[in-house]
Amino acid sequence: MVNQKKIAGEKACEWVEDGMIVGLGTGSTVYYTIEKLGEMVQKGLNITGVATSLETERQAKTLGIPLKPLNEIVKIDVTIDGADEINQDFQGIKGGGGALLREKMVAQASGRNIWVVGEEKLVRTLGKFPLPLEVIPFGWKQIKRELENDGIETILRKQSSGEIYETNNGNYILDIVNQTFTDPKAWHEKLIEIPGIIEHGLFLHYVDIIICGKASGEIEVIKK
Ligand code: 5RP
Repeated sequence: MVNQKKIAGEKACEWVEDGMIVGLGTGSTVYYTIEKLGEMVQKGLNITGVATSLETERQAKTLGIPLKPLNEIVKIDVTIDGADEINQDFQGIKGGGGALLREKMVAQASGRNIWVVGEEKLVRTLGKFPLPLEVIPFGWKQIKRELENDGIETILRKQSSGEIYETNNGNYILDIVNQTFTDPKAWHEKLIEIPGIIEHGLFLHYVDIIICGKASGEIEVIKK
């Protein structure tokens, strides 16, 4: 069986050149990108990575990929990341792995953003996948209530142990469920108005190239 994540993840390394600053996303698809970049670094490629999560930082360090924090970088040449859903307008949902805030900050600082996905992530309308909101723990119940009063159902993300999931930034995640995001821009406008929501997982104008691994073994490169 074809590993769609692996073929897409590895293909993205073709956009990485010597001397580049490279944003390193989070998740099980970009995992393969980072593994391959590790091999390339061991063979002499000179890059500096900017990690979007502690998980990615650990993986990159193990592989010997030099890293710098976002604060020490002016511009990132290219960022490679995964996504949970992407529509035909190159808008997506991210944050299934809880790293949406750092991922969006790194995407914003990047000259080019590449998403690596399996073909099941390409959808007509966003919303089958829950939309994560990173919220300040102080008053998260108020946010949940306010959304509910508006008919928006959310679930507080928990770990498998039952404990509340905390992001790398010490915040909680409310996942919006049972919604269809036909007008993602309007949702963006609505969500950023609510105090305590630090970030949402709608990425509306970031991605430039989608690398899609298919069950057939084909890799489709979709450019904006
Ligand atoms: C993490 C993310 C991931 O990129 C997204 O969840 C996709 O992950 P995977 O490649 O494991 O399906 O946004 O916050």
